[in-house]
Amino acid sequence: METKRLSQQDIQTAADLLRAGGLVGIPTETVYGLGANGLDPAAVGRIFQAKGRPQDNPLILHIPGADWLERYCRDIPAAAYELARRFWPGPLTMVLRRRDNVPDQVTAGLDTVGMRCPAHPLCRAVIQAADVPVAAPSGNTSGRPSPTTAAHMLEDMDGRIDAILDGGPCSVGVESTIVDLTCTPPRLLRPGGITLEQLRAALGEVAVDPAVTRLMGAGERPRAPGMKYRHYAPKAPVTVVTGAPERSAAYIAAHAGPGDGVICFEEFLPMYAGGARPVMSLGPAGDKGEQARRVFDALRAFDHTAVSAIWAQCPDSGGIGLAVTNRLNKAAGFHIVEA
Ligand code: TXA
Ligand code: MG
Repeated sequence: METKRLSQQDIQTAADLLRAGGLVGIPTETVYGLGANGLDPAAVGRIFQAKGRPQDNPLILHIPGADWLERYCRDIPAAAYELARRFWPGPLTMVLRRRDNVPDQVTAGLDTVGMRCPAHPLCRAVIQAADVPVAAPSGNTSGRPSPTTAAHMLEDMDGRIDAILDGGPCSVGVESTIVDLTCTPPRLLRPGGITLEQLRAALGEVAVDPAVTRLMGAGERPRAPGMKYRHYAPKAPVTVVTGAPERSAAYIAAHAGPGDGVICFEEFLPMYAGGARPVMSLGPAGDKGEQARRVFDALRAFDHTAVSAIWAQCPDSGGIGLAVTNRLNKAAGFHIVEA
């Protein structure tokens, strides 16, 4: 199929395609999503085909506001409305008990559903015009780094989807925070644009699912099924180097082979530049927001090179650093060395 390129004057076209059962790439503030009508089981099934996504990995529903929660969820705790008041529209997904009108294809048979109200103005306009909840995973081929530009998404999805709406580069750059509100205390399943500190300020105690910070063992089942898969991975193996930036930079300089790729903080570019080595900057060591915006582009960039290994500096886990670290660690299959 030919993938139509849409821009902001084509909102109605994007909405019509969704209502007709099509697949549309949509910008969100986190990453580009692969959208379909979340009430249409056949359309949702096509998402799994286009991505090569395992059938047991549920999708989240994108809605225009908290007033749609009651339509698709039941037993909604007060905490959900408090989080919506503080953080919606924005990069937060809440896992809630679902109603029977949510297709099994969306939830992969779970009795819960992830609900998100995105902030990107074009995304909101499309959902409102379509007037249906939009099921949308990140718009990458399953296992690859998530797309933060329309060009990234076309690398993976050109010819596999009906259209893509170009809304420019994503302002957050990592996927939404996922919090499970069906357990006590609430549990962070995936760190993202809303930080753990922000969730705790709103809710008090918040548990952190073990899949956030370490590799799951063969018999373990993380509460977010997607967290068990190798993810965000470039073709070459990645090693994450932790520790103070000066130490991790020096460690990488001492251990990287001449043709290996490096992901480093802006300040350390001169340490690696000059040779044939492909180097990607994560942004300044002190600017974790910029690191979040750049991390997927940095991981993707090496797939256009011949590197046989990639070394990456990473920030500490405060604030959105937890999300950046999580994405790098997952890309590395939790292959982490302490400098
Ligand atoms: O920022 C985002 O959330 C992006 C944009 C497009 O909105 N979407 C996104 O979707 O990242 P996806 O499918 O790539 O990741 C959703 C994650 C998966 O790890 C999935 O297993 C988990 O959410 N998930 C979905 N529904 C769930 C549920 N009912 N319970 C637990 N985890 C769930
Ligand atoms: Mg994804």
